[in-house]
Amino acid sequence: MSEKFVVSPGGELNGELRAASDKSMSHRAVLLASLANGASEISRVLMSEDVRATIAAAQLCGAEVREEPERAGRLVVNGRGTLKNAAAEIYCGNSGTLMRLFAGIAAGWGLAVRLEGDSSLARRPMRRVAEPLSRMGANIKTAPDGTPPVDITGGGRLRGTAHVMEIASAQVKSALLLAGLRAEGETSVSEPLATRDHTERMLEAFDVRVRRENLTASVSGGAVLSPARFSVPADISSAAFFMVGAAISGGEILLKETGVNPTRTGAVELLRRMGARIEVLNACQMGAEPAADILVSGGELRGIEISAADVPSAIDEFPALFIAAAAAKGETVLTGAAELRTKESDRIAAMAAGLRKLGAECEETEDGIIIEGAGDKGAVFSGGEVDSRGDHRVAMAFAMAGLRAKSEITVLDCGNVATSFPDFVRRATAAGLRIVRENG
Ligand code: S3P
Repeated sequence: MSEKFVVSPGGELNGELRAASDKSMSHRAVLLASLANGASEISRVLMSEDVRATIAAAQLCGAEVREEPERAGRLVVNGRGTLKNAAAEIYCGNSGTLMRLFAGIAAGWGLAVRLEGDSSLARRPMRRVAEPLSRMGANIKTAPDGTPPVDITGGGRLRGTAHVMEIASAQVKSALLLAGLRAEGETSVSEPLATRDHTERMLEAFDVRVRRENLTASVSGGAVLSPARFSVPADISSAAFFMVGAAISGGEILLKETGVNPTRTGAVELLRRMGARIEVLNACQMGAEPAADILVSGGELRGIEISAADVPSAIDEFPALFIAAAAAKGETVLTGAAELRTKESDRIAAMAAGLRKLGAECEETEDGIIIEGAGDKGAVFSGGEVDSRGDHRVAMAFAMAGLRAKSEITVLDCGNVATSFPDFVRRATAAGLRIVRENG
């Protein structure tokens, strides 16, 4: 049965909360721990549908992953230093990260697997990993149009490569670095703009040396992963909905223990440029990652220009940022963001359609959007029904629009919020959003 959010208008976000744990880091923690030799202990893992798919994939390939029932999110992963062929296909659910990273692992470790996904993942581009992996010597195939399923049929040892990425993608970079751990010689990946570097940082935490120079990361084949022990911070991409909610509603919210890796903090910078008041407090280190409490208070927001260089560090935050832009004064122009069309949904199209439904003026462009902000005061959204198109981030973004709506907003097809933020509704309600979840 499909789920919907019904959001009553008004209210503001206040108080403090820890958003769901970081999804990107949780996937990587499970995968790297299952490749290590021995028992890793990872705390505060995001136990969402996407990460559960990763846990199931690791288990199918021979890793022992134990969830500690009395401590939510604490995993003990017993890796055997290698993985074995999965008896069946690996179902990656909604998760592009799992499919692309696992393609790299399967190619490197010579596994024979078929990677499949749900109806959203089944439409997403996989040649970006299949082509460079096959140049390294992997037997890997996608469907003729470059989408899943991805078939990898084992094979001999890969050759290291020097790959120059045309698009900025942490998933592609990570897939190649992981494959490179088992290739002959060195594998290096150069990116056009800095993308999230969680794989590089986490490999170091598992005792694997990653050489990094400007926008190139390299690993040597034959690396051995030692077990690790660390905690995962809260996900800045999940916290972002609350940042925007507080910024547009005039409330004040403290987002505890949030990951502030500089490759991920673009939304903080963009919201500051729009006029939001944001302080980063109590900086600390969690494993190889920086974390902090982020204090956001409402201000008068204004439209801004956002260009390609701003995109990778805020790549998943655009649905939320578009809501801020529509509630700001003046025009926001985003360019250089065509990658948004390849996410869990075409996020430019999905957000533009929903914004129009809510009475906001906007125009889609090939690689971005132009949003006419309706002003910086009062209700700016008309209320009505919007379709999240099954995209968790589109659903949570439109939920926040309720804070500045004239009447009720219904967001359709919200079940996939469980892929990244299973207790979003409870946390949002506690913070002041007037939201209920309904079935049907
Ligand atoms: C992710 C990288 C980004 C991001 C995705 C998670 C990751 O995708 O959009 O949600 O965990 O590496 P791309 O690398 O394809 O841009």
